[in-house]
Amino acid sequence: MIRIENVSLTRGGARILHDVSLTLPKGGLTALIGPNGAGKSSLLSLIARLQPLQTGRISVEGLPVDATPGRVLARTLAVLRQDPGVASRLRVRELVGFGRFPHSRGRLTPEDDAVVAATLDQFDLTPLKERFVETLSGGQRQRALIAMTVAQATDYLLLDEPLNNLDMRYARDLMRRLRARADAGRTIVAVLHDVNQAAAYADRIVALRDGRLVAMGAPAEIMTPETLDAVFGYRMRVVEVDGRPMALHHL
Ligand SMILES: Nc1ncnc2c1ncn2[C@@H]1O[C@H](COP(=O)(O)OP(=O)(O)OP(=O)(O)O)[C@@H](O)[C@H]1O
Ligand SMILES: [Mg+2]
Repeated sequence: MIRIENVSLTRGGARILHDVSLTLPKGGLTALIGPNGAGKSSLLSLIARLQPLQTGRISVEGLPVDATPGRVLARTLAVLRQDPGVASRLRVRELVGFGRFPHSRGRLTPEDDAVVAATLDQFDLTPLKERFVETLSGGQRQRALIAMTVAQATDYLLLDEPLNNLDMRYARDLMRRLRARADAGRTIVAVLHDVNQAAAYADRIVALRDGRLVAMGAPAEIMTPETLDAVFGYRMRVVEVDGRPMALHHL
């Protein structure tokens, strides 16, 4: 379970999150949606302790994130950042190997190597494993970063815009994999800009706007013209395809 209680955040004199409280049960896929600047990355970075908590409380699997040793937290929770800086002279297999550090203390065991090899394979990266990350295309690099996060093999996975740069097939592949992991009892939170991906795969959608929680519920509850308007500020048509809501947001 991820428990967020009364979390506010101020940066550079501006209030970025306003008293956010939210509980996400263990297991399942949550999509975090909302316009640019809504506070999605900020909220994720507080959960993953990429920045210090200022007010309120956050716990993951009962561990208070501000009082848990980094190594313990890193075995529980993995995070993909929206703009991870990557050392350029790093090979793909080394990058994915970083995901194993919380388990191996830096020296990979044969078991770690096996996890890295399997993860490279899962993301079609085996032919690219000796390449330097800086030589990859945008989507290949994104897949390598996702593979690193997945290789950490944690019960909790936070992914900030994991679909960035992925083509439609890889985007679908990833969402299906995340769905399968959620079905196997893992807890996944993914920031998604495509509300239709959120509706198709997530168990619940959490919407932020201007640092506030504005809606939360099953896809069918969130995917209404009224709620989407409240989140994004414009009217969309919502149709049903095979029993699933889809927003026609280009029209
Ligand atoms: N270091 C900082 N100093 C001042 N303001 C900041 C800082 N970091 C983030 N912000 C502001 O906080 C707000 C929320 O940013 P955040 O990155 O959480 O948004 P987001 O919902 O992830 O948006 P996007 O969809 O564009 O990624 C934005 O207005 C941003 O400009
Ligand atoms: Mg963001």
